[in-house]
Amino acid sequence: MKTRITELFNIEHPIIQGGMHFVGFAELAAAVSNAGGLGCITGLTQRSPADLANEIARCKDMTDKPFAVNLTFLPTVSSPDYPGYVKAIIEGGVSVVETAGRNPEQVMPYLKQAGIKVIHKCTSVRHALKAQSIGCDAVSVDGFECGGHPGEDDIPNMILLPRAADELEIPFVSSGGQSDARSLVASLAMGAEGMNMGTRFMATVEAPIHQNVKDAIVAASELDTRLIMRPLRNTERVLTNKAVEKVIATEREKGADLTFEDVAYEVAGVYPKVMIDGDMDVGAWSCGMVAGLIHDIPTCKELIDRIMSEADDIINTRFKAMLVE
Ligand SMILES: Cc1cc2nc3c(=O)[nH]c(=O)nc-3n(C[C@H](O)[C@H](O)[C@H](O)COP(=O)(O)O)c2cc1C
Repeated sequence: MKTRITELFNIEHPIIQGGMHFVGFAELAAAVSNAGGLGCITGLTQRSPADLANEIARCKDMTDKPFAVNLTFLPTVSSPDYPGYVKAIIEGGVSVVETAGRNPEQVMPYLKQAGIKVIHKCTSVRHALKAQSIGCDAVSVDGFECGGHPGEDDIPNMILLPRAADELEIPFVSSGGQSDARSLVASLAMGAEGMNMGTRFMATVEAPIHQNVKDAIVAASELDTRLIMRPLRNTERVLTNKAVEKVIATEREKGADLTFEDVAYEVAGVYPKVMIDGDMDVGAWSCGMVAGLIHDIPTCKELIDRIMSEADDIINTRFKAMLVE
């Protein structure tokens, strides 16, 4: 399959792995890229720019294919050294950066000067247009279904993708709720030129996370995610567990008076305990509704090959059979 996205990023298949805190290590990024997609290291999971430089070098040891680094600008508890991370990305010879959280205007001149392609992940058409206007090469359009931060507009991809197609000139990929060939073909039909997946890539052999997390995703249905931190305008879609129930109870109790400190114990600094130690009830961790469509733990290559061959089947067999001469 050849689209503006495969051409732009110099990849074989129009499938991208989104940055994921404490999931997007070199092992996963390299596995996705080696399978013909675009893997992604999560920049801020690395504690310092020097650690990121090291992670980029590790990824380069595992793949000679292009891969991305995610730079997330979210309200974090401590403010990261963004110029340092950008320097590590440029000096590491990374060819693609996925930005997210806030408009990446401040880092654009440095990335563009280094010849790096920028794909900005955003949850609304207005933010996608802003990304286009500041020189982003592509956008990832993240619908309400997505794991992580869906924004505050609550527009699902069935509406958001065609809306983006109507307005954007730069290419875009669908993101949120994507898992299989049906997702890819539907995304293409709605104007996207590829798809970005988060939760689906967590349930793969190479995702360097605890088996308990992969098993929890396979066991979960589409009914098992919850939205938290809406009163703080920092909404996050997470898999429900004891900590999430506690956050929701606190939100109910505090109402409009909720502060980050009220929920910090359940949401701050919990990722290593979940992803590395496999402690499934310790805190809130991002997970998409798409968990309901995930029933196995394939290798990244098995997953991507399956998506591409089933997409071929849908287009060339199923659709063709529906056309009346
Ligand atoms: C565990 C997890 C952690 C994530 N961490 C980040 C992150 O640090 N930065 C970011 O831009 N997106 C993050 N995301 C969002 C993903 O990159 C992607 O946009 C999202 O998962 C797409 O929705 P899906 O899970 O339905 O595929 C995370 C998602 C998950 C599931």
